[in-house]
Amino acid sequence: HWPKSVNIKEVGPRDGLQNIQALVSTEGKINWINKLSHTGLSYIEITSFVHPKWIPALADSLEVAKRIERVDGVTYAALVPNQQGLEKAIEANIDEVSVFISASETHNQKNINKSIDDTYPILKEVVSDALSSNKSVRGYVSTVFACPYEGEISISKVMKTCEKLFEMGVNEVSLGDTIGVATPKQVEEVLSILLKYYSTDKIAMHFHNTRGTALANVTASLMTGITKFDSSIGGLGGCPYAPGASGNLATDDLLYMLDGMNIETNVSKNKIHDAALYIQDVIGEPLFSYDSKISRKTLG
Ligand code: HMG
Ligand code: MG
Repeated sequence: HWPKSVNIKEVGPRDGLQNIQALVSTEGKINWINKLSHTGLSYIEITSFVHPKWIPALADSLEVAKRIERVDGVTYAALVPNQQGLEKAIEANIDEVSVFISASETHNQKNINKSIDDTYPILKEVVSDALSSNKSVRGYVSTVFACPYEGEISISKVMKTCEKLFEMGVNEVSLGDTIGVATPKQVEEVLSILLKYYSTDKIAMHFHNTRGTALANVTASLMTGITKFDSSIGGLGGCPYAPGASGNLATDDLLYMLDGMNIETNVSKNKIHDAALYIQDVIGEPLFSYDSKISRKTLG
């Protein structure tokens, strides 16, 4: 009953780097993304075309996006909040545009400075223009399982946001456990409702590992038939506008588990490991993933 294959969507260069103290140089980002392009990953979210004051760590987004070496078969995606971001995404010839909104009113306001109702028309236009420019579009829903400001979020709010995004024409929705509070039971509950309306190929899961439940939540998702997961090398990541948010589900740990379960990903564990060590050196601090820690000890 486990899926035969899983599609890993690497978000390290975006979610992983947006919140870290150490500023990674443009060169460092480009080299890292170039390495990631040769790991077998078919999807890399490389940056965000947001306001540099809001996310200073990704202020060089346009340069990074223009200078990386594209590899055939890899989809290069970026976060886009509005038309201004879309213009840059088009200028950089990004393959997939990711719009984002929160199921929680307060988080949406803190994150993108607008109410949810004021965000819909902006995203609608972005999605429509992105599709006309032959970009595929993904929609993120944040704070699906809880909000750092409002606490519990009702499933009806999540459903409404998903419905709006699909109406706009997004190909898939990624459900974000922004602050890493979800448990497998909650994941199963939310997915059992959503999957009544949408097929599994329309939904990706985006777990943060704040409380160590990310892999358990992946397992619960796999059991419902979900096969798309966002993860970040080394477990880097977190939304600066969600207090308490910490790293994403680690790609290296996810890969260890999926490989062990004979679930195909086409991603090389060794190459991902090397890419983790590379960014660890650049940042100058230990990563969060179990895999990176075990290997450090083993290597002495
Ligand atoms: P705003 O201040 O309301 O924007 O910010 P505005 O439309 O009022 O414009 C104000 C100024 O910003 C203007 O400049 C615009 O030109 C400029 P001025 O005339 O004052 O010189 N501006 C821009 N500049 C560059 N790029 C743009 C852009 N848009 C306007 N795209 C805005 C609204 C959305 C821009 C801002 O709030 C923002 O950039 N927020 C980004 C927050 C963010 O990136 N958060 C993290 C990502 S979400 C996340 O991590 C969750 C996720 O991982 C899933 C999960 O874990 O749940 C996806
Ligand atoms: Mg995130």
